Amino acid sequence: MLDTDERGEPITREPGTAEELRRFRFSRLGPKGPRTGEDLRAALAAAITDAAAAHPDTDIPAGFTYLGQFVDHDLTMDRTETQLGSEVTLDELVQGRSPALDLDSVYGRGPRDPRDGRFYDEDRVRLRMGATIATSFPDERVAVDLAGFDLPRVGGTGGTLADRRLPLIPDPRNDENLAVAQTHLAFIRFHNRVVEHLALAGVSERRLFEAARELVVKHYQWMLRTDFLPRVVDPAVVADVFTRGRRFFESPHRGRRPTMPIEFAVAAYRMGHSMIRAGYEWNRVFTTGGPGPVASLLLLFTFTGVSGNFAGGGVAELDDPNSGTVDRLPTNWIADFRRLYDFTESGRPDLAPPPGAGTWPSGSTRCWSTRSRSSRRARSPGAAPRSRRSRGTWRSATSRGRRWWSWPAGSRWRGCSARPR
Ligand code: HEM
Repeated sequence: MLDTDERGEPITREPGTAEELRRFRFSRLGPKGPRTGEDLRAALAAAITDAAAAHPDTDIPAGFTYLGQFVDHDLTMDRTETQLGSEVTLDELVQGRSPALDLDSVYGRGPRDPRDGRFYDEDRVRLRMGATIATSFPDERVAVDLAGFDLPRVGGTGGTLADRRLPLIPDPRNDENLAVAQTHLAFIRFHNRVVEHLALAGVSERRLFEAARELVVKHYQWMLRTDFLPRVVDPAVVADVFTRGRRFFESPHRGRRPTMPIEFAVAAYRMGHSMIRAGYEWNRVFTTGGPGPVASLLLLFTFTGVSGNFAGGGVAELDDPNSGTVDRLPTNWIADFRRLYDFTESGRPDLAPPPGAGTWPSGSTRCWSTRSRSSRRARSPGAAPRSRRSRGTWRSATSRGRRWWSWPAGSRWRGCSARPR
C-alpha cells in the first residue's frame, strides 16, 4: 500500500493485519455509461462557474455543509498516485479511508500506533488540542491565548513556517478551510469530554479510550442518521433504507469487504459542493454589522494551516505557503456554532444565537466561483496526482459586489468579502 517514510517520501509497503481489514477499494454500483459529450460538459462547466447566475442559499443551516465535508473526509479519500493522462482502472483507485463512519479521520489507527500516537495526549486516551493566539482586533476580549480552540499543530521551531502550521490530525484535509477545521476540533473536544465523563463514572483506565471512542462514534452515527441525513436526503428514502435494509451498497463481487461506490465519492456526495456559500455569519466579530466583515470563503481558507497563513492577504500571498508570521489560529476566529446551526431545535435556550446575530440575506452570495477547483484534476480514472499540500483553490469570479478589506498595520488579517446588498 502507499505510504510515506520517516522523511515524508512516498513508499509502498505490505499492509498490516488491521490495515488489511480496513483497506477498502472503490466499486461501481451501476454499469459504465457512455462518456458525456464535450458540448454538454462545457455547458455544465459554464453553468457551474456562471458568477452572474442567482444561486440562492439552501435553508439548511450553514454548519451542515461542513459537517457534510467532515463526513466526506471520514468516508472517502482517493489516494491513487498517477501521472497526468494515464488510465486508472477502478481497482487501482485506492480508497484511503474506511467507508464505515468510524471516525478514522479523527482517531487514525489509535493511540498505541507508533505513527498515530502523536495525535494523542501523553495519557494515550485524550486527543491533543491546540491553543489559539491572542490578537488585538476588535477588543481586549480576544487578547488572550485560548487552549483547546485550535487544532493541534506541529509547532516548535524546526522546519518552515508552513511545516509548523500543519495540523496534527490523521486527515489534513480537515484543515483545508476553517469551517471543517473547527468541526474536526468539535469532535476532538467531544471525545475529551466523554473521556472525562467516563473516568468520573469509574471506567477503568485500561478501557477508557475504547469506551470513549465507542460512545463518540455511536453519537456521531446517530446524529447523522437522525439529523444530517433527513436534511440532505428525502426523509422517506432514509426511513426506507433503515427499515428495509440497503440494497445497493456492497459490491456482490467483493464478498463481505465493504467498498466505496465510485458513484458516491466522485458524483453523488459531491452535492455538498453546491451547498458552499460565499460568506458566513461566523462569530461576533465577523458577521453582518460586526466590527469585521462577514467571513468570506477566502477568509475561511486564509485562517487554516493547510491552505492559509493565519494572517491575511489575498490569493497571491496564499500561494506562498510560508507567507505571514502567525503559526496558529487567532482567537478572534473561533467559530460560534450557535450562528452556524439552529440549536434552538433541541430546546436548549442557552444554545440560541446571541441577540442581534445576523443572518446572511438571500441573493447576496454571488461572489465566488468554483472555476479553479474544476480546473484541478478530477479524481477519476486517467487523472493526475494531487499535490502534497492542498492550497486554497477559490478565486473571485467578478469584481461586482466585492470589496477588498485592508486593515491598519498590526491587524492580523485582511481579505475579500461580499457585503450584503
Ligand atoms: C469549501 C468547501 C469544499 C472545498 C473547497 C472542497 C474541495 C474539494 C476538492 C479540491 C476535492 C478533491 C479534488 C477532486 O477530486 O475534484 C474534493 C473532493 C471531494 N469533495 Fe469536496 N470540497 C468542499 C466541500 C465539500 C462538501 C461540503 C462535501 C459533501 C457534503 C464534499 C464532498 C467531496 C467528495 C465526496 C470528494 C471526493 C473525495 C475522495 O474520494 O477523494 N466536499 N473537494
